[in-house]
Amino acid sequence: MKKNNNFYITTPIYYTNAPIHLGGAYTTIAADVLARWHKLLGENVFLLTGTDEHGQKIQEIAEQNNQKPKEFVDKIVAEFKEAFKMLNISNNNFIRTTDKSHEEEVKKLLTKLYEKKLIYKGHYESYYCVGCEQYLTKTDLIDGKCPLHNRVPELKKEEAYLFKLSAFQDKLLNLIKTEKYEILPKERRKEILTFISGGLQDVSISRLKEKINWGIELPFDKKHTVWVWPDAFWNYISGLKQTGESNFDKFWPPNVQLMAKDIIRVHATIWPALLLGAGYELPKTLFVHGYFTIGGQKMSKSLGNVISPIYLTKRYGVDSVRYYLIRNISFGSDGDVSENGLIERYNNELANKLGNLVSRVTSLIEKNGIEKTENKLLKKLKLKEIEKYFENYELDKALSEIFAFVDVCNEYVQNNKLWETKDKKALYEVADSIKAIAILLWPFIPDTSEKIAKQFEFKITSLKDISKPLNEKVKISKGEILFKKI
Ligand code: MSP
Repeated sequence: MKKNNNFYITTPIYYTNAPIHLGGAYTTIAADVLARWHKLLGENVFLLTGTDEHGQKIQEIAEQNNQKPKEFVDKIVAEFKEAFKMLNISNNNFIRTTDKSHEEEVKKLLTKLYEKKLIYKGHYESYYCVGCEQYLTKTDLIDGKCPLHNRVPELKKEEAYLFKLSAFQDKLLNLIKTEKYEILPKERRKEILTFISGGLQDVSISRLKEKINWGIELPFDKKHTVWVWPDAFWNYISGLKQTGESNFDKFWPPNVQLMAKDIIRVHATIWPALLLGAGYELPKTLFVHGYFTIGGQKMSKSLGNVISPIYLTKRYGVDSVRYYLIRNISFGSDGDVSENGLIERYNNELANKLGNLVSRVTSLIEKNGIEKTENKLLKKLKLKEIEKYFENYELDKALSEIFAFVDVCNEYVQNNKLWETKDKKALYEVADSIKAIAILLWPFIPDTSEKIAKQFEFKITSLKDISKPLNEKVKISKGEILFKKI
């Protein structure tokens, strides 16, 4: 039985048909922010991310590149790992669906479901969009094409093994309605309830090997490979088990699984049904964040507006990218991002507000010193609100509230003309407040927070440290500029 102070959070595992996308970086950064916040709360945290490497889409692209699929994905996966390192993602494991141990877990799952007669042989006929790697219904199509990929789906009728998804319809409706399986934001939950009420059909979970051989072999029929989705879903299980069975017992089920709206239907239906079928406890919450556009348009190669998170990080620094993506998009809603928008927030918020506060205050303290006193300024920090925002996954609001306190501190320096009064007690208050700011910002911009912590000689370990006064003996000196204006 999972204990309360263990926190398991997952991201979707990303397709390896192309290099890492800003969208995937966004979800993973958001997951990292939540993971770090829970660490500050004193919880044991497990953050899982990884890559989804099988299926038709990847088989096709590898063929076009005259490469074996494994060769092709290995290169992309190395780039993903590098990107997550650059983005300071504190994941505890990186799962690949081509990992042997993962493949074994998937086979075990399918064998179990087959033995329980939840998988049976039949045929499947439907529109299949290779871009989505999902079946679409006629009503999903616009002008006969998948609206997301602008691609005519294939009409498929072939021998396949089907999973009895229909058998779980009522159970799922009930679990979602009663919030035992929570889907957030609430509008998404409504959408899903309507979708399931419309009827769930059994779903094909295998593909003929002669067509798609880049997949896990179906354990009870070697003519078939496993469809990408059951394979992919099982990462959430195998990714924990890879780090030891005891970790599985400790962390299962996930507290929250993040994703965008493109994959919520499958996550709200097939995924929990597989778990119920195999006898696993369900995740507590699925949180669906928004989908963003770039400069008002869908990110696409043909439009030439793809922005790589690696490019942005190299150019503007990791914390600028993390800050901008989280601050600019209301978490849970759609939004738009652009390079100019990043530069604007970087200059106006990171450089002019945070950077300026730290640099002014450290240089005043270097010259004048500090004297310990009660920090009345800290009373203006709305910590309860920030905690509430985190509980509600309102990451952008939490960040904005922390920055409201940065404003309060800047105004305090300004209004009290600390550069003239050289008031050591007032300087202590601001220094101690900067400590609180650095702790609170650590989930969002960990590098910057750690630089500040080093400058003010404290450690970032717990939220509780906000109320422990800064040691007045610290030797604070003006350090490097945190954010040089662009
Ligand atoms: N491999 C599947 C997921 C399997 S999980 C068991 C997949 N991969 S994906 O590479 O297409 O990633 C989709 C996810 O990337 C979205 O759900 C979202 O988390 C993120 N995003 C991709 N583009 C995005 C935006 N434009 N905006 C926000 N997030 C986006 O689907």
